[in-house]
Amino acid sequence: MSDRPRLLPLLGTTTRHGSRDSMTCLYRCGNACDHPVPNTSDNAYFGDVVSAEVSRRGVVRAGAVGALVLGFGGAAAGALAGAAPAAAAPGTPVVPEAAGFGRPQPGTGSGALTFSPIPPNQLDTLVVPNGYDHAVVIRWGDPVVPGAPEFDLRGQTAAAQSKQFGYNNDFVGVLPLDRRGRRALLVVNHEYTNEELMFPGFTTMDALSVEQLRVAMAAHGMSVVELERVDGTGQWRPVANGRRPYNRRVTALATKFELTGPAAGSAWLRTAADPKGRTVVGTLNNCAGGVTPWGTVLSGEENFNQYFVGGDAAPEELKPKLARYGIKTTTRYPGGSRKWERADERFDLAKHPNEAHRFGWVVEIDPYDPESRPRKHTALGRFKHEGANVIVAKNGHVVAYMGDDERFDYLYKFVSDKKFLPGDSWVARRHNLTLLESGTLYVAKIEQSSAAEIDGSGRLPADGAFNGRGRWIKLVSGNRSYVDGMTAADVLTFTRLAGDKVGATKMDRPEDVEPSLLTGKVYVALTNNTDRGKPGKAPADEANPRNLNKHGQVLELVEDRADNTAETFAWSLPIVAGDPADPSTYFAGYDKTKVSPISCPDNVAFDATGNLWISTDGNALGSNDGLFATAVEGPERGHLKQFLTVPVGAEACGPFITDDRRSVFVAVQHPGEVTGATVDSPVSTWPDGDYAKPGVVVTWRLDGGPIGS
Ligand code: FEO
Ligand code: CA
Ligand code: CA
Ligand code: CA
Repeated sequence: MSDRPRLLPLLGTTTRHGSRDSMTCLYRCGNACDHPVPNTSDNAYFGDVVSAEVSRRGVVRAGAVGALVLGFGGAAAGALAGAAPAAAAPGTPVVPEAAGFGRPQPGTGSGALTFSPIPPNQLDTLVVPNGYDHAVVIRWGDPVVPGAPEFDLRGQTAAAQSKQFGYNNDFVGVLPLDRRGRRALLVVNHEYTNEELMFPGFTTMDALSVEQLRVAMAAHGMSVVELERVDGTGQWRPVANGRRPYNRRVTALATKFELTGPAAGSAWLRTAADPKGRTVVGTLNNCAGGVTPWGTVLSGEENFNQYFVGGDAAPEELKPKLARYGIKTTTRYPGGSRKWERADERFDLAKHPNEAHRFGWVVEIDPYDPESRPRKHTALGRFKHEGANVIVAKNGHVVAYMGDDERFDYLYKFVSDKKFLPGDSWVARRHNLTLLESGTLYVAKIEQSSAAEIDGSGRLPADGAFNGRGRWIKLVSGNRSYVDGMTAADVLTFTRLAGDKVGATKMDRPEDVEPSLLTGKVYVALTNNTDRGKPGKAPADEANPRNLNKHGQVLELVEDRADNTAETFAWSLPIVAGDPADPSTYFAGYDKTKVSPISCPDNVAFDATGNLWISTDGNALGSNDGLFATAVEGPERGHLKQFLTVPVGAEACGPFITDDRRSVFVAVQHPGEVTGATVDSPVSTWPDGDYAKPGVVVTWRLDGGPIGS
């Protein structure tokens, strides 16, 4: 089952800011770091000094998390009336409690993690702790939709790829399908493509055929795949043959999305092909995401800017708005462009200047209803959405936490107008599907307790912690804007500009932002920011305490009164990442000789006992990326241990830990993405020994026990 370890080939790796390879920079985000920081606002530093009392809030009462019905990742599944049918038909959600994936353990994030940490390494394989095994669940090109042809590397077509598992996989969600814990739905984002590693004989992007460009468009998007448990173990695999009614591919090529919320239909979103501004073809660069309590999946459209050309010929008044999102407006986009305008002219802003505004949203898909039209929710704002994660607040409103992954961009939250309806009735489900269509959008302003002591070195202030208080600044509520000179549609479509105006805090690239469903505390992966403190750029502050920040940090946010709809909060940094021997690192005060080195936190998740799991992207310490876990409460808080590493060139994504804690899913994104590698001359041959294929793996304990204790 396990791969034979292979040593890292000695092919020259060209690295950028940290260890991220140049090739990844080019394909994943269009060399974003080579371009000017899009945030040129002067709202860098307020230096507010406020009380640093970080309150330790109690567990959210059961009634509040009783809303956590669907999606069995680290959620308390209580409070559901009525059992779901044993074998549901498409469109019929099954509650996890009834689905029998194991009741989540009552806990507060202080669960013991008993696995032995694995050491840093550069092996071209997936490495897991002793006593664990792993298997590939699905990989690029595997059939998804019934009738999908076998993958043909040298004869790829858009039609075939539209039925097969897409390329690079980031978000992973696993939703239950039956009460015995035997079937589940895997939902995966396909963030981007790397044509050098996909097409034999690749020479240049300009030399790609239109059909190859359409293959790339079809390899973007999402996949829904029905899984079955293997022999009662923690292993899962796609259901073999026969009907797979839930299986679905969502692509950038053909899937239609409905725009919802206050900006839907606005002038900004109208195009020649969609004069009403309400329907968009495709989703782009879907990075992280989340499973909602009502059993849908949210997905963030991230680096959408790199798909567009022609910003130089867009209307003058639009150029500042395009530039704030990283779209080149002075010259033709240099290199890096995906050339999609050759396959579909809507990617040329000279012809269709509003098309770019139709991406950069949070997408919601209902995997239980394969016929449903996925939606883009304008009420959650438009930026380079990493993802979105929802919690039901004590008062029943739902709160989505979100990050804008760019150097010096912002942290957001959305509070729904309507309240969550518990239960699995059709009435409740129909209602809950509308929760993200209207509400209030806020941006975070982080205040400091020890501003005068922050010197950019990472040295702890005298009070022994990076911490402080903060405020959620209201940007828009329903159709009412709170930002001078901007309508609600303006604020929601150009949310970055609204954040600039109200003085939001410039953060070190907010990636995944996720609340613990057991405590209501929120954890933010701030992955790195090598521009922090450079001349003309915002200096270190207490929440972003290191200049030229290579390794990133994790921020913990505790809403006042343990109310996730509160407008004020306390915050602290439990983890300042890096080599524990580096004095600028911090692990909640835990003995650093017992902590695994970590760099560039990206995705976060919780197990059912509330432990925090962190995957990394761009490890600047020279080892492969991987997955880590730590308790966040009690004496084990800060005892971070490495659980796995992914193969050469890959980042570790997902992760997803099932509520019975018997299965840990991880996406292996861009294996072998090393400058100079091609599909004909690969640097990684994971997972099959021939050429690199992104894929999803599952890890389980050989003795059948739960991960951890
Ligand atoms: Fe796709 Fe922010 O990582
Ligand atoms: Ca990410
Ligand atoms: Ca997550
Ligand atoms: Ca990242």
